[in-house]
Amino acid sequence: METKVIAFSGSLRKESYTTKLLKAFQKSAPVGITVEIIDISTLPFINEDLEADLPQPVKDLHAKIKSADAVIFATPEYNRSYSPVLKNAIDWGSRPEGNNLWKTKPATIIGCSPYSLGAFGAVNHLRQVVLYVNLYIMQQPEFYLSFIADSMDEQGNITKKETQDFINGHWKAFGEWIEKFNSTKNN
Ligand code: FNR
Repeated sequence: METKVIAFSGSLRKESYTTKLLKAFQKSAPVGITVEIIDISTLPFINEDLEADLPQPVKDLHAKIKSADAVIFATPEYNRSYSPVLKNAIDWGSRPEGNNLWKTKPATIIGCSPYSLGAFGAVNHLRQVVLYVNLYIMQQPEFYLSFIADSMDEQGNITKKETQDFINGHWKAFGEWIEKFNSTKNN
């Protein structure tokens, strides 16, 4: 059976490195796993007043989360944290109260930056939040990618063998992590 992974980029920028990295992950997915990148740009800002009559983009997000076997979050680093658009999507996926759709889905976080830290601060802030919404986050291996412009061309094709190997290694571990929970789910 096909495993459905939904994936979120924390950058709305057209030429975003984070989105390009996520697309490289999508292309590198192992056989049997499909990755759908979810558009979070149309979600309204989180507001409990909207919960009585959920806006369509929130309903669409809820349907995508419900149908998914696993989740990938790709984040840039903004002031040593992850991006607000990603927090907004995570918050909507956990609301209204008692309707946390993230719980018990296997997940991983990948971070990148054009500079030296590889979004280390962002990934680690995000880890704290995904633990609370009870996603089963893969602890190891971690994925931080520094100086990302040296790893891809302008279209986002990975041009460095070490980077492609890093992506493949992360997929191998994440595929096994997903399988661990899928096999429990089916028992
Ligand atoms: C940044 N950037 C940044 N980079 C970094 O390595 N550490 C940081 O703390 C920050 N802080 C930060 C704050 C804000 C508000 C912005 C907009 C940017 C730079 C950031 O990593 C860079 O612009 C990336 O290219 C953003 O990711 P995308 O859009 O290319 O995916």
